Amino acid sequence: MRREIKIAPSILAGDLGHLAEAVRLADHGGADQVHLDVIDGHFAPNITFGAGTVKALRKVSDLPFDTHLMLSDPLKYAPRFIEAGSDILSFHAEVLDRSSFAELRTLLGKDVKMGLAIKPKTPLPQWAQESLDKLDVLLVMTVNPGFSGQELDVTVLPKLGELSSLVRRVSEGVDIEVDGGVEESNVAEVVRRGGNILVAGAGVYTKGDAARAIKSLRGKALSAMVVK
Ligand code: DX5
Ligand code: ZN
Repeated sequence: MRREIKIAPSILAGDLGHLAEAVRLADHGGADQVHLDVIDGHFAPNITFGAGTVKALRKVSDLPFDTHLMLSDPLKYAPRFIEAGSDILSFHAEVLDRSSFAELRTLLGKDVKMGLAIKPKTPLPQWAQESLDKLDVLLVMTVNPGFSGQELDVTVLPKLGELSSLVRRVSEGVDIEVDGGVEESNVAEVVRRGGNILVAGAGVYTKGDAARAIKSLRGKALSAMVVK
């Protein structure tokens, strides 16, 4: 089974004064889901927006909301992001352990998909390796969390390849999301290494025409899959 390519524009790279417009651009531009970066200023050195904003944006589009929680205390805030209408909630492995992961999985139930995110230098912890069958998404960061517009760290690509193979052995149903610096020039390589949910902030919102950028990313990603 081949995982489906999904393009997920990160609105952090959009016009922060008009986030609803950024969501609309993704929706009308043919994106598959919207990536929402929530950062608490503690887990990573930036502060973005909270559950209230996610809830307000929910009215703008029916696309799945892929909420990436870069928070030091995800257990405390997860219920609010579920209530706000997130379809996928991703949590960082760096602030979880086996028991908090299990607690979050229970909290999300069947309706909300669960993602586990790891920073570029973080190896997948043992408890996470043993929990892959309970995951919906493994989110591999290719920049340090905090800001859009950074360059993809190519030294993460071997890890991405290894994790994709590992996940594929355990469960074909788990999506591999790649987040950070994904753009036209590297999307094919990211797909060849197993990525199928492709987050793109600057790669969509700084290109002048979001719809065109999404189409081009998808085209390059699909060709890379065919070649494989
Ligand atoms: C970084 C965020 C990313 C980022 C993506 O903390 O998790 O989602 O905004 O933006 P680009 O594609 O510009 O790196
Ligand atoms: Zn993100």
